[in-house]
Amino acid sequence: MSEKQSFFSHETLEKNIGWLIICTILVASIAGLVQIVPLFFQHSTTKPDVGITPYSPLRLMGRDIYIREGCVGCHSQQVRTLQAETERYGHFSTAGESVYDHPFLWGSKRTGPDLARVGGRYSDDWQRIHLRNPRDVVPESVMPSYPWLEKAQLPTNDIQARMRALVRLGVPYTEAEIAKAPEELKDKSEEDALVAYLQGLGINRRNVRVEAAAAAPAKE
Ligand code: HEC
Repeated sequence: MSEKQSFFSHETLEKNIGWLIICTILVASIAGLVQIVPLFFQHSTTKPDVGITPYSPLRLMGRDIYIREGCVGCHSQQVRTLQAETERYGHFSTAGESVYDHPFLWGSKRTGPDLARVGGRYSDDWQRIHLRNPRDVVPESVMPSYPWLEKAQLPTNDIQARMRALVRLGVPYTEAEIAKAPEELKDKSEEDALVAYLQGLGINRRNVRVEAAAAAPAKE
């Protein structure tokens, strides 16, 4: 090393903990911004995927019941890009599938299976029996029973406020859709709403899975 060390040399940084901290924060922040900021502008993360539409009033209520009952505490809704996951659940999840989810329900706990692609996997009747008492269809299940959902009638007085709140977050409900929403919930139970919500999960990608299975070579 030369005796006259320039202030801008790397040695200054390595020997001066204050500068090291400041410069590390600077570099990490820039690296973070470079990764995060473009996501706010990329169409693949901000535009809905093909087949993704705002939730119907019934499904929206179902989603809110899903949140209220804490289903997210045991079920993720996020298929990762790993072979074991895509073989079990179907196409991996994409950002464009969640653009109308406020808040998103990806979750991180999997006491039960991932539900991102559960729509259409079972009949409506199966879903109802399963919600009332999971043990009736899956004897070893540890999932709680939700028998009250069948008996609880959906309120129709706050759906418009729920939809308007989502409009403020960018969900494109029209005034006409909001106007006729209460009608759609008339005489429906909470169970109807939750089953409708579950049966729509991931069906935009269901055909992808079927096509992939058809294209794959037959197993012995
Ligand atoms: C204590 C954890 C727990 C909670 C809370 C829970 N589940 Fe489950 N769930 C499970 C387990 C474990 C299974 C697998 C066994 C079974 O099918 O019952 C399961 C299975 C399911 C399945 C079938 C998935 C498949 O692919 O076979 C659906 C649908 C489901 N749960 C929906 C819900 C909904 C809706 C709620 C909230 C009302 C909920 N679960 C709350 C643990 C839970």
